[in-house]
Amino acid sequence: MNKIIIFILINLMFFSSNITAKTQSAVAMPDSYSANVAKEILQSGGNAIDAAIAAQFVLAVTLPEAGNVGGGGFMTIYKDGITDFLDYREVAPKAAHRDMYLDKNKEVIPNLSVYGILSAGVPGTVEGMWQAHKKYGTKPWKELLAPAINLAVKGFIVHPKLASAINWRVNSFAKENIKVNFAQYFAQAKANAVFKQPELAETLKRIASDGRDGFYRGKTAKIISDFMAKHGGIITEKDLANYQSKWRKPIEMKWRGYNVVTAPPPSSGGIAVLQWLKMYDLAKQDANFSHNSQEYIHLLAEVGKRVFADRAEYLGDPDFYQVPVERLLAQTYLESRVADISMEKISVTEDIAPGLIESRDTTHFSIVDQWGNAISNTTTINYTFGSGVVVEGAGFILNDEMDDFSAKPGAPNIFGAVGGVANEIQPNKRMLSSMSPTILVKNGIVQLVTGSPGGTTIITSVYQSILNAIEFNMTAENTANMARFHHQLLPKNKIAYHEGINQEVLVKLRKMGYKTSLDNFGDLQLIINKDNKLSAASESGSHNRGVALVF
Ligand code: GLY
Repeated sequence: MNKIIIFILINLMFFSSNITAKTQSAVAMPDSYSANVAKEILQSGGNAIDAAIAAQFVLAVTLPEAGNVGGGGFMTIYKDGITDFLDYREVAPKAAHRDMYLDKNKEVIPNLSVYGILSAGVPGTVEGMWQAHKKYGTKPWKELLAPAINLAVKGFIVHPKLASAINWRVNSFAKENIKVNFAQYFAQAKANAVFKQPELAETLKRIASDGRDGFYRGKTAKIISDFMAKHGGIITEKDLANYQSKWRKPIEMKWRGYNVVTAPPPSSGGIAVLQWLKMYDLAKQDANFSHNSQEYIHLLAEVGKRVFADRAEYLGDPDFYQVPVERLLAQTYLESRVADISMEKISVTEDIAPGLIESRDTTHFSIVDQWGNAISNTTTINYTFGSGVVVEGAGFILNDEMDDFSAKPGAPNIFGAVGGVANEIQPNKRMLSSMSPTILVKNGIVQLVTGSPGGTTIITSVYQSILNAIEFNMTAENTANMARFHHQLLPKNKIAYHEGINQEVLVKLRKMGYKTSLDNFGDLQLIINKDNKLSAASESGSHNRGVALVF
C-alpha cells in the first residue's frame, strides 16, 4: 500500500514539474526583430513551428548577411514527442555540371563558385517554410508573413553591427574588383537609420498571398529567370518550379543518456557532431580534463582531424551518393579511429586518411514553445551576404551555396573544406553542408536546443556547446560564450581559437607543433532546460546581435 502511495506521489511530482516546464517558452534569435516576432507568435498561441516560420521571414529582411528567401537551410523538429527533420537545402540548377568552376586546364577559377550569379543554387527556403506550415503550422500563413512585410515596407532601424558588416562587404567587393550589385541595394543602409526594402516587400507579399507558388511560379519566378538569363546565370523557371524540400529522418543517437536529434545528410554536421562527442568519450575514457586545457584542446583537435577526413570522403547528398551513416557512427569503427591518438604528440595530417576502408556566415535560431516542442533551425545563403547578387525587381540576395560543392577533388572551398566524388556537382543535387541544428532530449523532455552559423566551424560550435552544457554543467550564458577552438584536418595542424583561451595553454599547444590563430567564429543560439526551468542565450561577439528571451 505504502509503495503505491509513494509511486503516485513520485508521478505527481514528475508531472507537476513537467507542467512548470511546459508553461515556459524561450527563443534564442540572431537579432532583436526576429526575437520579438517569435515571442509575439508564441504568446498569441502559435507553436514553435509558427514562430520559426515568422522568424525566418523576418530575418530575410533584418539580417541580410544570412537571413534569406534566396537560400536554404535545415530544421530539426521535436513536436509532441515526435522527431522530424526538414531539408530545405538549395540544389544545383539543371544546367550545372561537375567542372563548371574549372578553366580549360582543369584548374579552379578563383571566386567563380563564391561570388556572382553562377555561385547560386536554386533557393529552398520558401518551399521549406511552406511545407513546415502545411505539416505542423497552426496560424494562418499570411499572419506569419505579416511582420516581415511590415519591416520591409516601413523599414527597420539598422543595427550598427549590420551597418559595419555592409560597409565591410561593399569595400571588399570594390577592393577585389568583384562585380556584383550588392552595394546598389545595401550601401544606403546606415547605422541607426531606417532602411526600407520595397522590392523585397513585394516579393514577400506574393509569397504571403500565393504560398510557395508566390516564389517558384508566376511573377517572382519570371523575375528571377529573366534576371538570370540577362546576366549569364543558369537558374530557369523550370528549376524553380521543380524545387522540392524534403522530409528526412533525423539522425538520432544515444549519448550519455540523452537522445541527440540532429541533421542527417546532406548535412555533414549531425554525423560529425556525434562522431566528435562519441570519439571524445572513447579516447578520454576515465580522464577528467579541465575546460579548454591543453589536453582537452589537443584531444578534441585529434578527433577533429578524423571527423574531417571522413567528411571529405564519405559525405554528400544521400539522394545521389550512398552515405555510410551507420558505419560512420558504429561503436567499433569509432573505437578503431581513436586507437592511435597520442596525448603527447600531434598525428601526422597526411596519415589521417578517411577511416572506412574503401566572416563566414549562415544564421541559427532555437525555439521552445509552451507545450515543450522545440525547433532548431539553421538557415543560410552561405558566405556573408551570399553571392553579393540581388535579384533586380525581387530585392533579395541570392545564395552562393554552389561553393559548398567540391569544385575539384582536393581543392578547398572558402571554408578550407575539401571533398571528392561524394560531393561533386551534379544537376539537382544538394551541396554538402555543415549546418547542425541539434536537440537533446531525455525522458521525452527537451534538454538542450543548439545551433550556430560559421561554415565548417558550425560543427565545432555545436559539439562544444553540448560539452559545455552537459560535461561542464555550464549556464546557458557560459555555454554560449566560453572561448572555443576549431581544428578541421586542413590547414595542417592549425587550431583557430577564440579570445579567452589561456595563453599558457596556447604556448604548450605551439610547443607540440600546432599553429594557433586567433579567430572569431560562430553565433550560438541555445536554450537549456535545467530542472524544468528554461534559460536561453545568444552568443555575444563583435559581429553578433542576438537576443534570447524566456517568458
Ligand atoms: N553554407 C554553409 C553550410 O551549409 O555548411
